[in-house]
Amino acid sequence: MLSSEIREKFKKFFEKRGHKIIPSSSLIPADETVLLNSAGMQQFVKYFTGEKDILEDFGNRHLISMQKCFRTGDIEEIGDDTHNTFFEMFGNWSIGIDEKTGYFKEGAIKLALEFFVETMGLDKKKFCVTIFKGENEIPRDNESFEIWQKNGIPKERIREFGAKDNFWGPTALTGPCGPCSEIHYDRGEKFGCNAQNCGPNCEKCKRFVEIWNLVFMEYYKNADGSYKKLPQTNVDTGFGFERLTAIMQDKSSAYETDLFYPIIQKLEKISNKNYNDFKKEFRIICDHLKGSIFLIADGVEPSNIGRGYVLRRILRRAIGIAFRFGFSENWYQDLIKIFQDIYSEFYNEINNPKIKEIIKQEENKFLKTIENGLKEFEKIIANGIRYISLPTAIKNEKNISAESSFYLYQTYGFPVDFMKDLCAEKNIGFDEKGFKEEFKKHQDISRAGAEKKFGGLGKTADYKAVKLHTATHLLHWALREILGKTAQQMGSDITNERLRFDFAYPRKITKQGLEKIEDLVNNKIRQGLDVRKQETTYKKAIESGALGFFKNKYPEIVNVYTVGDFSKEICAGPHISNTAELGNFKILKEESSSAGVRRIKAILNEF
Ligand code: ALA
Repeated sequence: MLSSEIREKFKKFFEKRGHKIIPSSSLIPADETVLLNSAGMQQFVKYFTGEKDILEDFGNRHLISMQKCFRTGDIEEIGDDTHNTFFEMFGNWSIGIDEKTGYFKEGAIKLALEFFVETMGLDKKKFCVTIFKGENEIPRDNESFEIWQKNGIPKERIREFGAKDNFWGPTALTGPCGPCSEIHYDRGEKFGCNAQNCGPNCEKCKRFVEIWNLVFMEYYKNADGSYKKLPQTNVDTGFGFERLTAIMQDKSSAYETDLFYPIIQKLEKISNKNYNDFKKEFRIICDHLKGSIFLIADGVEPSNIGRGYVLRRILRRAIGIAFRFGFSENWYQDLIKIFQDIYSEFYNEINNPKIKEIIKQEENKFLKTIENGLKEFEKIIANGIRYISLPTAIKNEKNISAESSFYLYQTYGFPVDFMKDLCAEKNIGFDEKGFKEEFKKHQDISRAGAEKKFGGLGKTADYKAVKLHTATHLLHWALREILGKTAQQMGSDITNERLRFDFAYPRKITKQGLEKIEDLVNNKIRQGLDVRKQETTYKKAIESGALGFFKNKYPEIVNVYTVGDFSKEICAGPHISNTAELGNFKILKEESSSAGVRRIKAILNEF
């Protein structure tokens, strides 16, 4: 079945059953709580909580969408059979109604089975399903356990898991969430590990692939980690279109379906290489180029922060492979064209000529960046200098030492992704652990300096300076509210007397503008909002929408400071615990700091 037919059947199936088709929202989320749209439900969050009535905006409580999604957490997985950074999530929703007035668990499960079995013709015997076994304060999902059985899935093919696998959301630190129940598809013994307990979420093999996630959203996660029941029940479902297409076309991976294969064939031609010999590289180019096209089409440009950095990273990885494969200039031109042929009927935005221009510019920049590093790399390899032997775990005859790799990274800005790929292709061992240790060593040395430079405070911070530091976060947030999201931090300096904050903005700020900013900060101070600290990984912090503008300067585990539910930044701290402690915020001065950068000096007075 062609992918376009699957699209059609999905739409028709749900339309016939009273669902309204909602267009995909942009990859850039409207609410800034996440970096990139990573699930179909994101555009519906405020309707799950009852904060807004879905009927007012969409005129229907039953909806479907085919949503563009991007998952940064899966970048490292690319190359395997089942992951893509960019993918389309197909889903249906039942919002603010129950089984009597619409549908909840039972209706959702029945619809999923009916669509897969009757419309798609999948073999029900190959389904294994999972349910939530209960964890923390939330009980086991007994209802789903019964419903699946009533609908022909025998007990032996129902597995139970905890919150890690079967509790979904929230996508931000707080928000709607709930237990979920998934359908996994058994790809057969040849994909399996043959362990006795092999099944969905098997850690040893990829025999079972998750193909539909049904989330029963009836909880809300609070900032302190506790849960409360939502005033209404909601169904939020999603499956990866690419995965279903692979199954429908009987392929072990989406790369071999009509959504990617024309690209693979083109790559074979332009590289003169066989897909089967270079599966991983081909797949990375396919995935990353496609992701880049859709990100640029939605207005993302390469940069060193936030989503711009995500784009830069994937684009450079693809460019790096093209470079090492010796592709000729404009290698991406025909590939973009093929993606446009596949997708522009559904996503007109990918016809934008800017896509090619941006890729070209980024390629030029990248090639310049690696030029010197590459020479040095070759020298290291040729001379055998800076070599050490590595632990036995790495069996290659030749290894690049952690010191050398860090030296290339540090001195030449040689990208780690590129270096790792290069080593793998040349059969040179890359000491990842050692590299990380070098990185950490360097970080420890430079931390004291960095903290000062980036507005963090040392351990000896005075209470007044701590207050000014929290006020800096409020100011940063207020600037982005009033002047727009591009008004981001460029520098910060705090003494016991005043804060000084530099940020990107092209013009002088008007008196009224400054008053608005000041008012907004004072307003938040008066609300007496709690300042909360959460320890998490850098990756998760960025995915949750925390601001962090000093890429590569952060350790793996970071602190995220949230003020109320608006300002959220990665920061070393320390901070006061409630905004009421701050007093009155006053801007003393606004001036130019350098081209395109403004500087504000401000103080805190007692009330
Ligand atoms: N929101 C659910 C998911 O992304 C359906 O898996």
